[in-house]
Amino acid sequence: MSEAFLYKAWYVAAWPSEVTRTPLRRVFLEQPVMLYRREDGRPVALADSCPHRFVPLSRGSLVGDEIVCCYHGLRFNPDGACTLNPHGDGTIPAVAKVRAYPLAESQGLIWIWMGAAADADPRTIPVLSIPHFPALDDADAYAAVGGRLSIAANYELITDNLLDLSHVQFLHPGLRVANPRVTRHEMKQEGNAITSYFWRDEGQVNGLLKLMGWPADRPVDSRAHMHWQPPALMTLDVGVTDVGRPVAEGMSAPSLHLLTPESRERTHYFFAFLRTVGKDDAALTEKVRVLGLQAFEQEDKPVIEAQQMNLGEAEIMSLGPALLAPDAAGVRARRVLRGLIEAQRVEAGSV
Ligand code: FES
Ligand SMILES: [Fe+2]
Repeated sequence: MSEAFLYKAWYVAAWPSEVTRTPLRRVFLEQPVMLYRREDGRPVALADSCPHRFVPLSRGSLVGDEIVCCYHGLRFNPDGACTLNPHGDGTIPAVAKVRAYPLAESQGLIWIWMGAAADADPRTIPVLSIPHFPALDDADAYAAVGGRLSIAANYELITDNLLDLSHVQFLHPGLRVANPRVTRHEMKQEGNAITSYFWRDEGQVNGLLKLMGWPADRPVDSRAHMHWQPPALMTLDVGVTDVGRPVAEGMSAPSLHLLTPESRERTHYFFAFLRTVGKDDAALTEKVRVLGLQAFEQEDKPVIEAQQMNLGEAEIMSLGPALLAPDAAGVRARRVLRGLIEAQRVEAGSV
């Protein structure tokens, strides 16, 4: 086990549409995993390494619900048990088995449990709730446009980026709130969850809300509240109202920011923009997708990757960084996560 990761946790493995009858290789927490669907549609996750010569099983082919290794034909069922050895007298060696990872589908995502399978309980899958928005399991109630980026940076640097949205004003011209009269920031912790609040009062509406039809000709109060729960699951409540009006009278444009470490230096970033406004408008969905990708792929990704290059193997806090007021939430999230990882280490008896 590496102390870079929390293992007793559900992580996002894929969007449901990514997992098909063609095996998909994906690395989580430095472990190669193969994802596919059984004939009845239920998803499967197996270690993507054949116990014979350690070739990725995802290079093989499915026969019914089983995977046949491309190299010498060992066959494995969805539990990871070897069911066929086409060599010699056909005896199956005791070590010819692969790890099966628990999976669950919830809230429009496929989740994977990276700890011991016996500890996996789907009732502990984190609930991604967004204020003033339908439950995410109610897929008919909203439109979602999402994707996945692979970012060459440690996941905690991306958490820092998302919990400190002061950077939006500098890095994201399409999402910034121009000329706010007042900017306020606050951070709150409840249990292991942290929310980083940004308010910008009496400014101009940003590009995303404008796309969604909010008029650009009058000042608005804007909010961007990022909610974090361990290990790195974030939901963003973004919206505007006319100045001084309650949230219920305004417009919301929330988004999901769900990070799964691939390794210490690379991260799967699952994102989605959600809306109830014009939810059947395909042209609007496309415009939102382009705007979102501009921000995440063209603006955040290169900066965070360059930051990681500068840091090399150093952990950022060990370098004594200058800390600014909006860093409070990111610093607190690191502390919560370190506490959970330390508890895991003690529990594993590796003290
Ligand atoms: S490497 Fe898979 S059967 Fe030989
Ligand atoms: Fe950003």
